[in-house]
Amino acid sequence: MTPAWRDSLMLRAARREPVERTPVWLMRQAGRYLPEYRAIRRTTSFRDLCRNPDLASEVMLATVERLGVDAAILFSDLLLILEPMGLELEYTPGDGPMLKNPIHAACDVDRLLELDSIEPLGYVVETVRRTRAGLPEALPLLGFAGAPFTLAAYAIEGGSSRDFRRTKALMWNDTGAWDALMGRLARAVARLLNAQIDAGVQMVQLFDSWAGCLGPDDYRHYVLPHSRSVIEALRPGVPVIHFATGNPALLPLLSEAFGKHSGGDPPDVRVSDNGTVPVRSPHATARPAVVGVDWRVRLDEAWRVVGHDRAIQGNLDPAALLTPPAEVRHRVRAILRQADGRPGHIFNLGHGVLPHTPVENVLTLIETVREFRR
Ligand code: CP3
Repeated sequence: MTPAWRDSLMLRAARREPVERTPVWLMRQAGRYLPEYRAIRRTTSFRDLCRNPDLASEVMLATVERLGVDAAILFSDLLLILEPMGLELEYTPGDGPMLKNPIHAACDVDRLLELDSIEPLGYVVETVRRTRAGLPEALPLLGFAGAPFTLAAYAIEGGSSRDFRRTKALMWNDTGAWDALMGRLARAVARLLNAQIDAGVQMVQLFDSWAGCLGPDDYRHYVLPHSRSVIEALRPGVPVIHFATGNPALLPLLSEAFGKHSGGDPPDVRVSDNGTVPVRSPHATARPAVVGVDWRVRLDEAWRVVGHDRAIQGNLDPAALLTPPAEVRHRVRAILRQADGRPGHIFNLGHGVLPHTPVENVLTLIETVREFRR
């Protein structure tokens, strides 16, 4: 029997098959903008919440039910992988995450340990199992991890950074140390994502949240090979969303991390208004490839540079959810119009939901996507 999630809107959109309507979920859909989440956080630290599979799965299950989104995402954090690799992680209210013993220089790179076993991250795997078990079968569960560059940047800077100068210094001054660090992170990330897949996620998102600080040549030279090696190491056929933020010039390179395009002109199949099913490209890649885009570029322009033989996710500015509901509706529809009915659009924000967002606006966004008809 084929599991019901296989033909969900999300999975079909990732494969660029026609859908009745655009699927929608939101990065940070479970977070501080929700009063229920804040209530849990009054008694439990974020770190303890992530390490408690019962509570972490419950947070996501309740969120998905409340919002009516088309996918759940594992409730976890991308920095947790650094703990068993030897870095001490602390979430400080206000300052964001901090690493107490960062890799400041090339000579420290060997302090980052190989992640030889997934065992120390067993709580993540258990959260996947429990979340999957609690979801309706037709609703896909997404796994995720940080991409090697974003993890390296956290490991080197010790926290967030304005200019990423330590990261760039190591990257440019000692290519050997850089490649050793990125290789170790890429293997760890692939191990974690495969463990999530084996435990029950249907699709994964690779977050390169900080890659936008790089220009395209540096991204291509120092980052792309490592992100590509992660994607290549994943279980065959599992769709991947490759996401970065901050620099639209990187979009064709995010797409390149999936390997070759299908060749020839990008297929331009659309769902016709009378609902006839268009023919799928015979060249469709074995692994459905989705490129995540932020709001710094129009969606139609992003799709053009990425190639229409890729699916695309995005791209409402999260700050738009701080405007009145009529403005939210207007902006959501503008993006749906840019997608122009092409198969392969997954609606999302260009980055995570901001903490001060009114829940009402999140619900308005979701309802607008669900009701939109060309
Ligand atoms: O709802 C979801 O999307 C699932 C859970 C999720 C979290 N973090 C929960 C979280 C996901 C997918 C992430 C990924 C993540 N974590 C990223 C990539 C996405 C992005 O935003 O670019 C990054 C960079 C991190 C690292 C991280 N974790 C930061 C920078 C912060 C602090 C942010 C802040 O607003 O303070 C966190 C903490 C974090 N991760 C929270 C949540 C719900 C807030 C924790 C809290 O105070 O309760």
